[in-house]
Amino acid sequence: MIDRRRAEFPTLASGIHLLSHSLGPVPRAVRESMIAYCDAWEHHTSEDAWATTWWQLSRRVGDRIARILGGEPGSVQIQPNASIGLATVASCFDFHSGRRNKVVTTALDFPSMEYIWNGQRAIGADVEIVPSPDGISTPLERILDAIDEKTCLVALSHTSYRSSYRIDAHAIVERAHAKGALVLLDVYQSAGVLPLHAADWRVDFLIGGTIKWLCGGPSCGYLYVRPDLQRDLSPRLTGWVAHDAPFDFAPAPMRYAGSVRRFAQGTPSIPALYSAIPGLDILESVGLQHIAEESQRRTQRMIDFALNRGWTVNTPLDLSKRGGSVMIGADNAPAVVEQLAERHVFVDSRPGSGLRISPHFFNTDEEIDEAMNVLASLIER
Ligand SMILES: Cc1ncc(COP(=O)(O)O)c(C=O)c1O
Repeated sequence: MIDRRRAEFPTLASGIHLLSHSLGPVPRAVRESMIAYCDAWEHHTSEDAWATTWWQLSRRVGDRIARILGGEPGSVQIQPNASIGLATVASCFDFHSGRRNKVVTTALDFPSMEYIWNGQRAIGADVEIVPSPDGISTPLERILDAIDEKTCLVALSHTSYRSSYRIDAHAIVERAHAKGALVLLDVYQSAGVLPLHAADWRVDFLIGGTIKWLCGGPSCGYLYVRPDLQRDLSPRLTGWVAHDAPFDFAPAPMRYAGSVRRFAQGTPSIPALYSAIPGLDILESVGLQHIAEESQRRTQRMIDFALNRGWTVNTPLDLSKRGGSVMIGADNAPAVVEQLAERHVFVDSRPGSGLRISPHFFNTDEEIDEAMNVLASLIER
């Protein structure tokens, strides 16, 4: 029996929270954590907040996130957000030199992906966007076929934000490495709801952030870099914190840190780190395997409910190909979102996907049934 820890999320008293793909509910302990942050700041002149806690905090939180990603200690550098993590990786490539200038991505990725790779076209990148014929999935064969000897990077979502489609990480890493290319997975919609296996997959980069399934606050993104790859890379998007000896304040040229800190930029987002810790504590104590099993059971229950009523499900029906959300087609989805909110059921919508509904470990089965019944009363009215 899973421990839902409901008492630790005050927001749950105000309705049925099914928004973990967007912003998770705040853990009660975040308030204490933010007070600890203010206390450290207030006493900085006598107790040096940087030396006692703040300077080490990125590394500490990074190592906690690494565990959730299935990565080794020292493999994760905190970022201001996932987009900056991605741009930092992009800045490691020299698209003009050599034979490899191709980046493979997909049409189901979060818009930052396309915006950032599109920007690299100006400096020589050849970007191939593998289409999604049905708007729900991207056929694996089409992705594999796009990876060739000119490919330097395959960059795509592990789980899509718009359909919850989950790619086969193993197969993609295997093909990319066989062709001499690297792989970046955006795991923002996977981390915290699915067990991830960064080290086993031999994946090169992961990006994401804490505000969704990890129940943390905004501005705590992260970048995982395969430990044996780190020293081969020198991001042009950088800053003083990435220097080997930042407090030397040495003139250029840049001498990158020998650790994952070489992927940092400037002053870390300290409040965001404080806000992320309680969620990580809760997730680890509930256990990712339990969370994933519960998620798969309940997304199936929701999908069965929807199919039985003849609704359109814009999420893969095969559970090995989906993440933690279920997308349901609805006429005028934004209006349905508002009507659900009036009835204390909180979901959202995306153009082309319909309603996005995400049960997490803290939701009860009764809540999910109630949410689906309220939805039925609106859709079938
Ligand atoms: C899959 C995915 N990637 C990236 C992002 C954006 O992340 P950030 O705002 O941290 O750049 C989101 C946000 O919704 C997302 O769902």
